[in-house]
Amino acid sequence: MKIACVQFAPAFKKIETNFEYLVTQSKSIDADLVCFPELSLTGYFFFSTEELLPYSIPFNSELIGELQNIATAFNRIIVFGFPERVDAKVYNSCAVLFPDSAFSFVYRKTHLFYRERFVFTSGDTGFIVAKYPPMDINIGTMICYDWRFPESARALALGGADLIVCPSNLVTKVWTLAMPARSIENKVYLAVANRIGIETNNDETLHFNGKSGIWDYNGKLIATASEDKTEVIFAEIYPQETRNKAIDHFNNIFADRRPEMYKVLLGEN
Ligand code: ACM
Repeated sequence: MKIACVQFAPAFKKIETNFEYLVTQSKSIDADLVCFPELSLTGYFFFSTEELLPYSIPFNSELIGELQNIATAFNRIIVFGFPERVDAKVYNSCAVLFPDSAFSFVYRKTHLFYRERFVFTSGDTGFIVAKYPPMDINIGTMICYDWRFPESARALALGGADLIVCPSNLVTKVWTLAMPARSIENKVYLAVANRIGIETNNDETLHFNGKSGIWDYNGKLIATASEDKTEVIFAEIYPQETRNKAIDHFNNIFADRRPEMYKVLLGEN
């Protein structure tokens, strides 16, 4: 199975421009799965729910319907971040659109980063793994800052994910140190589609750091992008190889877990 991550700079508040870009790329990139960054439809640096609300859309909107039609017509899984409107609330969400729309779902970011707390409602979906038999792939999603919590990738791997896709707008540089660990300790593929560029709002500027990457289930970086260029990276993955969690004749990293021991007893002194 061939997967791709698209690294680009979404235009702030230009939903039509970004949508057209997603449409063109989703049609033309030759891969079974194409993953775009977090908030690809709008850009990132909103300061309030009020500011974002006019740019937010429901999951069952016409725009997402058009991308769903492309997923179906091109037999391609399309993943992208967008601000999801639900009544007066907005979630920092990620759509996973399968060729068969019955499997498509939305994940709402669990851990909100920095000023996102003033803009978004904390996600209420929990982590989701979708099993897609037509391509024999089990896909789990997390979004950007979720990576700081090893529980995110662990929950997805225990839920059966072969591949974790992670649409991102990363502004620090330390995350590349953690991703190989998340893939090794869970024996899963991990694909991070990060954005590039800068955004300024209220005299504050954020720099997004690119370096989108795909790691195999042994933590090896098998595709990577530059820090600052629009790029598409590709990797061939073998989802079935992640399912046996044995690492030698005796050890199996899931069967060897001892959850009953994962609580800390505090001594008297
Ligand atoms: C982030 O969660 N956008 C860093």
